[in-house]
Amino acid sequence: MTVRHTMKAQAREEFNAWAESYDQHYLNHFLFRPSYRVFMEELYRWRGCDGPLYDMLDVGCGSGTLVSLIAATDLPLRRLVALDYAEQMCRVAREKARKHECDHILYVNADSEHLPFPDESFDVITCSNSFHHYPHQQEVIVEMRRILRPQGRLMLIDGFRDNVVGWFVFDVCIGAVEKHVHHVPWSTVNRFFREAGFRQVTHRKFNWWFPGLLTVGVA
Ligand SMILES: C[S@@+](CC[C@H](N)C(=O)[O-])C[C@H]1O[C@@H](n2cnc3c(N)ncnc32)[C@H](O)[C@@H]1O
Repeated sequence: MTVRHTMKAQAREEFNAWAESYDQHYLNHFLFRPSYRVFMEELYRWRGCDGPLYDMLDVGCGSGTLVSLIAATDLPLRRLVALDYAEQMCRVAREKARKHECDHILYVNADSEHLPFPDESFDVITCSNSFHHYPHQQEVIVEMRRILRPQGRLMLIDGFRDNVVGWFVFDVCIGAVEKHVHHVPWSTVNRFFREAGFRQVTHRKFNWWFPGLLTVGVA
């Protein structure tokens, strides 16, 4: 098995096993929920609620909390799609949406390296705390760029490991538990975006204890 396949297989196995209890994990309070809040702010800042309708994809959607929250807003969405490599995560996300009577999200079980959508089919892509699981991160950014329409936005959040707190949390602690993950420096994320053809790449750091980094690029 190649490193690429090992990493992906381990991620799938880990999240299939974790799916049922994922929403109860303490990381929801410290990392995931603050990230959803930052995405919401960014989406409202981008188009507000009065602009033209748009199509959105959430890559590595996990148990689907972000898309459920977005579906309950007045953001002008035409199509909301959520994708994850772990089929149990997709199942939990689907059940959660059904419970909240939210029937207009499409869940897709697929790999971020091979997004099963035609070129230029979305206006915005979000990716929340999933990027560190991808063995070939540059390829994923190129793939995301491919399916974004001109002027579309890629909004990516992952652990910020460029200060002492971030290094300790992500490289030392999370690295020791998950083993097959890698949080890259912000400058590497910036390079991935630029080499994939994104313009106006901006970064925003948030949180102190579990520092996160939002990177936004314009297609
Ligand atoms: C830490 S969870 C984050 C879930 C969600 N975005 C959130 O913020 O709560 C990482 C997610 O990425 C997914 N994932 C890992 N590798 C993936 C890949 N190659 N393609 C798509 N999803 C992947 C996992 O299955 C898992 O659901």
